Amino acid sequence: MDALKKIKYIVADDSPFVYFKPDIDLSVIQRSFDEIPIDPHFEPGYRYRTQSLYEIMEDGQFKILHSKPLYQPTYINSYNNYGGKTREYDNLPTWLIDDSNFNALVNAWIDTLPGDIDRFSAHQIRTVSDGGEVVPEGRHRDGYDYIGVFIVNRKNITDDCAISIVWVGDTDHELFNGVVEPGTLLSFDDKLLMHNVGSIKAKDGRKDCLRDVIIFTVPECCIG
Ligand SMILES: [Fe+2]
Repeated sequence: MDALKKIKYIVADDSPFVYFKPDIDLSVIQRSFDEIPIDPHFEPGYRYRTQSLYEIMEDGQFKILHSKPLYQPTYINSYNNYGGKTREYDNLPTWLIDDSNFNALVNAWIDTLPGDIDRFSAHQIRTVSDGGEVVPEGRHRDGYDYIGVFIVNRKNITDDCAISIVWVGDTDHELFNGVVEPGTLLSFDDKLLMHNVGSIKAKDGRKDCLRDVIIFTVPECCIG
């Protein structure tokens, strides 16, 4: 078993922060970003994204439901006019719902939650370009109960960029501060914790650079 598996920080009785590497074929999840469309709502133009709302059927299979447009009030997300307006995105590739690696990834995240769920949302987010901000709004909550963040790819970016930090609420108490390797899943209680990620820096400015993540949310719906 990987040494990172099931390292658990209990910040309250029902609010875990966990990170580990699920046993999946990462290359399959990486391929799901091959056709990712640009985010038309992100004015700097260096972000790509999709989002889907899923129902978990009795047999454990996933079904894509009609997505609600994303909406965040401005007090949750005041960046770049993201907050206070509705945003629609294409679905994640539909072949993922039949893929055993995606199924195992989702279930690895669900296993960390304190209760059962029957719906969740997933968001693919690609950040590109030297200096591209992964979290332009800075330290924040996403505004949901539980969040899963799966790091899918770091390509042509420096080994020490895009540092993730997770805090207990608005205190200075850090539960995590470091670079998260591709293949690692972070799961945390969004109600009690805050998070941030630094910008990406190209190793070689002549080549494309990127960082890909999939974010899971429950209750289903939107993130910034
Ligand atoms: Fe976030």
